[in-house]
Amino acid sequence: MENLNLKKSIGNTELCYRYLYPRLTVLVTSGSVEKPNAITIAWSTPLSVDPPLIGILITKKRFSHKIIAHNKDFVINIPDLSHVKGCFHVGSVSGKIEPDKVKNAGFTVEKSEKINAPRIKECRINIECTLENIITTGDHDLFVGKVIHTSIDSKIEDDWAFDLKLFQPVYWRQSKDLKETFQLDV
Ligand SMILES: Cc1cc2nc3c(=O)[nH]c(=O)nc-3n(C[C@H](O)[C@H](O)[C@H](O)COP(=O)(O)O)c2cc1C
Repeated sequence: MENLNLKKSIGNTELCYRYLYPRLTVLVTSGSVEKPNAITIAWSTPLSVDPPLIGILITKKRFSHKIIAHNKDFVINIPDLSHVKGCFHVGSVSGKIEPDKVKNAGFTVEKSEKINAPRIKECRINIECTLENIITTGDHDLFVGKVIHTSIDSKIEDDWAFDLKLFQPVYWRQSKDLKETFQLDV
C-alpha cells in the first residue's frame, strides 16, 4: 500500500474548498428581458428530486443577490466550451457597474417559458426556477430554487441527459489567475 505519511498537512482550513474543484460552471440570469443581469456560478448543487430543488450560492455583495432576492426567480443556463470567454466576462464584472454586461459578454437573452427572469439563447440548456428560500450559510447565501421548467436542445440529448460527445460543459478549476477551465475527456 502507498505510504500515507507522504501526505502534507495543509493546516489552513479556509483553503480546503479549493480541493472540491473542478466544478461545473453555470450562468445564472435574473431581472427581465429589457434589463437582464447574469452571474457566473461555480457553487451550485441539486438539493432535492421531488420536489425538484436546486441551490446556488451567492455572496451578499453580488448585484445578482439583490435582484434575485427582490424578483424571486432566476434561470440556470448551462454554457459550453465555446462560451468560456463570456463566462469569464460575466464572472469578472458586476452588472451594477456594467449594465450591458450580458450583451458585452456575447450573450443574447430571450423570454423564458414560465418565469419573468430571462434565459440565455446561446445556452443549450435552461433551467427556470422560482425562489423558495434564502439560507445564510456563512459568507455565501444559499438560494433555493424550485425548478418550474427545463429546456434542452434535442440535438445534444441522450437517453439520460446530454451526450458528452455532443455537448461539453464548462468545468472550472480554481487557480491563482482564476482563468483555468478544461474539457472532460470523453
Ligand atoms: C468561474 C467563476 C465562478 C464563480 N462562482 C461564483 C459563485 O459560485 N458564487 C458567487 O457569489 N460568485 C461567483 N463568481 C463571481 C461572480 O460571478 C462575479 O463576482 C460577478 O461579476 C457578479 O456579478 P453581479 O454583481 O452582476 O451579480 C464566480 C466567478 C467566476 C469567474
